[in-house]
Amino acid sequence: MKTYAFIIALTTAAAAAWAAEPIATLRGPTPLVEQGAAPTMPKVSNEDLRRLRNYPEQPPTIPHHIRGYQIDLNANKCLSCHSRRATVDSKAPMVSITHFMNRDGQFLASVSPRRYFCTQCHVTQQVTRPLVGNDFIDIDSVLSDQN
Ligand code: HEC
Ligand code: HEC
Repeated sequence: MKTYAFIIALTTAAAAAWAAEPIATLRGPTPLVEQGAAPTMPKVSNEDLRRLRNYPEQPPTIPHHIRGYQIDLNANKCLSCHSRRATVDSKAPMVSITHFMNRDGQFLASVSPRRYFCTQCHVTQQVTRPLVGNDFIDIDSVLSDQN
């Protein structure tokens, strides 16, 4: 009996804490047992301007839409603009030299299989309000604040 009382007390405490401090959730206020209305799909940002990278190793985000761009065994739509040969006509930035390296750091003649599925690392951005805030400060700002 004591154990039950303890569990009930715990659950009540947890519920009270949750009610006091609502956490950001994609589900919104809809109760768990109900199916909420699907949110409208945000537009993919397509402003064609290369974005600032937050740190040097960051895969740059994609500044254009990629709807219907096929990437599979037979075709890679991304490389039809971003490959070494295609950039003359497409004016797209060439995939970086790291994309030609195998896992031993050797440069291959064409894009390495490790880098073939571009969207594994590169993503588009959506025109939408962020779910949670972000106070990331990049290293240049950290260094300049120290001086
Ligand atoms: C029709 C040509 C074309 C295709 C296809 C294409 N891109 Fe691009 N991409 C560009 C151009 C041009 C830019 C330069 C910015 C701009 O004009 O949008 C760019 C920019 C980028 C950038 C930003 C690079 C940087 O340094 O900021 C990334 C990442 C990128 N593309 C990835 C992709 C991926 C992944 C795909 C396939 C899903 C793809 N692109 C398909 C033409 C293309
Ligand atoms: C395993 C993760 C990964 C995959 C897969 C990948 N990339 Fe990248 N990409 C990166 C990273 C990390 C960078 C930034 C550092 C660098 O250049 O290596 C980058 C840089 C780039 C850049 C900017 C080059 C420059 O010099 O400004 C372009 C364009 C790009 N990638 C396109 C592509 C395309 C197209 C594909 C698919 C064929 C692809 N990437 C696959 C991680 C990846």
